[in-house]
Amino acid sequence: GLAETEVVTEIDSTNVRALERLQQGVPGGLYVAEFQHGGRGRRGRQWLSPLASSLCFSLAWRFNSGAAALEGLSLAVGVALQRALRRLEVPDVCLKWPNDLLVDQAKLSGILIELSGDAAGECQVAIGVGLNVRLPDALLEELDQPATDLSRLGFTGSRTELLAALVAELVTVLESFERGGFAPLRPDWEAVNAFAGREVRLTSGSHSYEGVCVGVTDQGGLRLQTAAGEEVFHGGEMSVRIH
Ligand code: BTN
Repeated sequence: GLAETEVVTEIDSTNVRALERLQQGVPGGLYVAEFQHGGRGRRGRQWLSPLASSLCFSLAWRFNSGAAALEGLSLAVGVALQRALRRLEVPDVCLKWPNDLLVDQAKLSGILIELSGDAAGECQVAIGVGLNVRLPDALLEELDQPATDLSRLGFTGSRTELLAALVAELVTVLESFERGGFAPLRPDWEAVNAFAGREVRLTSGSHSYEGVCVGVTDQGGLRLQTAAGEEVFHGGEMSVRIH
């Protein structure tokens, strides 16, 4: 559960803060910042968010399992965010494997999960969420991929309302994930799979694979129908694009 909540104006990265507090022994927490000067994205990238342009927060969470059981965690987090946004009447949010939220193929939100301890069957995780709220036009043009934000999707609620809805759904989903893993959440994920039935190219290091996306496994692996038959791909440092 969430033993503490910290809201600050500025920080390097809420994920760094969450990992630090886990190491200091807190059972779990919520860390929110108006501005991050060292925001981290996946695959070593930066997460740029000028003041108040995105909602940036991290949950610190302990799991009673080894890291291997966490493969589907980022997909589970996507399901939680998608559900909360649907409840807030943000339409047509899809999930891109393993962990982006898209609207019309433009990125609305990214998730960064970082592990700290993985010992004695327990592991500590920082679950970071960056959700675009109101991006300056200039930043939208600068980004290397299409992006969108909540203001462009007609959301007029407050950041507080947004955060409360997202965190409540996240806690529900994380508790479900602890009991039953990703499998019970899989139908919800597949119902909003951005790549369902589409030809995609997946790149991992110098390898690249092409196939039609047929869904995900109970563990959260990506299923592609390739020329060689069905293949399952596991998270990590991969990028997937529509081919
Ligand atoms: C991505 O799409 O590459 C993931 C972006 C994750 C950004 C969030 S913002 C809150 C948390 N703190 C960070 O430094 N990163 C995550």
